[in-house]
Amino acid sequence: MAAITDAAAAAKGDVLVIFGITGDLARVMTFRSLYRLERRGMLDCPIVGVAVDDWSLDQLIERARTSIVATGEPFDDAVFGRLAARLSYVQGDFADAATYQRVGTAIGAATLPVYYLEIPPVLFATVVKGLADAGLAERGRVVVEKPFGHDLASARALAVELHRYIDESQLYRIDHYLGKMGLEEIVYLRFANTMLEPVWNRNYVDCVQITMAEDFGIAGRGHFYDPVGALRDVVVNHLMQVVAAVAMEAPAHGDPQTLKDAQLSLFRAVDEADPMYYVRGQFDGYHDVEGVAADSTTETFCALRLEIENWRWSGVPFFIRAGKELPVTATEVRLCFKQPPRLGFGLRDAAGQPDQLVIRLDPSTGVRIALNARRADAPLTRAIDLDVEFAAAGGEGPTPYEVLLHAAMAGVSPRFVRQDSVEEMWRVMQPLLDDPPPARAYAPGTWGPREADALVADYSGWREPWL
Ligand code: BG6
Repeated sequence: MAAITDAAAAAKGDVLVIFGITGDLARVMTFRSLYRLERRGMLDCPIVGVAVDDWSLDQLIERARTSIVATGEPFDDAVFGRLAARLSYVQGDFADAATYQRVGTAIGAATLPVYYLEIPPVLFATVVKGLADAGLAERGRVVVEKPFGHDLASARALAVELHRYIDESQLYRIDHYLGKMGLEEIVYLRFANTMLEPVWNRNYVDCVQITMAEDFGIAGRGHFYDPVGALRDVVVNHLMQVVAAVAMEAPAHGDPQTLKDAQLSLFRAVDEADPMYYVRGQFDGYHDVEGVAADSTTETFCALRLEIENWRWSGVPFFIRAGKELPVTATEVRLCFKQPPRLGFGLRDAAGQPDQLVIRLDPSTGVRIALNARRADAPLTRAIDLDVEFAAAGGEGPTPYEVLLHAAMAGVSPRFVRQDSVEEMWRVMQPLLDDPPPARAYAPGTWGPREADALVADYSGWREPWL
């Protein structure tokens, strides 16, 4: 959020300490993001990796190199040389106080360390306590990865534990959707255009449909995914951020507090989800995936309906569906507008879909306005699409992790999730966790179980995503 960045930035971090640097997230995501930041001249501090593995610095540098190459990123030796020169490595057990002494030595005279915890959530408190006991926490920022609990009670308990050692203002919770260009695009489009804001409400919008479809499964992630499932994996966090961007009121100011309060106020207006309008699905063959329990009933697909009780949205259902092994990979939000009157001058027999406005977040950022128009090749109205691909018009932005790592260093806290919002998102979903319907089987390559269609039957069904 360019405009937001300036107003919301706090002091700049002067060393980045990555706990778990030998792990998977670093291999797949972090090294590449750091490399891309280095290439753009946006890195200007040392990077200390911490992990239990008995590695030399050369081994870490080699891991960084192979990780970046494996992502397919164009590789420039000079850029990598600059990145490698920033790296140092501290070996140590996270439960051992001596590890934090070594971390303290490695960060030297830095005054604002940024600690990035790429480690399982069960270890968050151990590391934060270790930092606090060594006197390293009070002047730092701590960046953590989801999940933030697995329900409302555990999310609260985790925060209470972390707040024993650090203040909420020091905690930066990553939801990588907050680094996606498409998510920002929703907010900009809504509030930078006079012609859109007046129709963005219950007077004109019939329903909102959010689809996050993935045409792949969970191979290689069974151990992580099976205790989690689709609702906890992507809805309670990522897709609720999409709901907030679509539905919140314009923040009155660009300071972090006001920005996050606007979002919180929207979450507070979302009713607790009703299990009557919740469908769970599991793709055929799920039990054969390594790491999945033989009798698992975890959902790999879910569809639900949310209601927002405020003046802007009352009576407009927000439908969400997300799943693995679906026909395509695409994430979009779609406003379906109300049916126009069928006027006598030739529109009476028109049978097209009412207008729709689509913002696509993945696989690339785009905006489509689907209208009905008179065309020479048809007697009645026909659908026409006004499409903008951002890659062609203005270019794609940096990847989410680049945005977020940079924001963590710069102290742009609105890019991260505040605890009160975390709790509101769990509050909304808790009834679905308490009273889940059975998971229905669906064939890979289909749009999930039939029951998902019944959810939207009164709203002309799910619209096929814009590809
Ligand atoms: C992650 C989920 O948070 O987001 C994955 O754990 C999911 O299951 C991924 O595939 C999707 O993110 P993106 O940005 O690749 O669409």
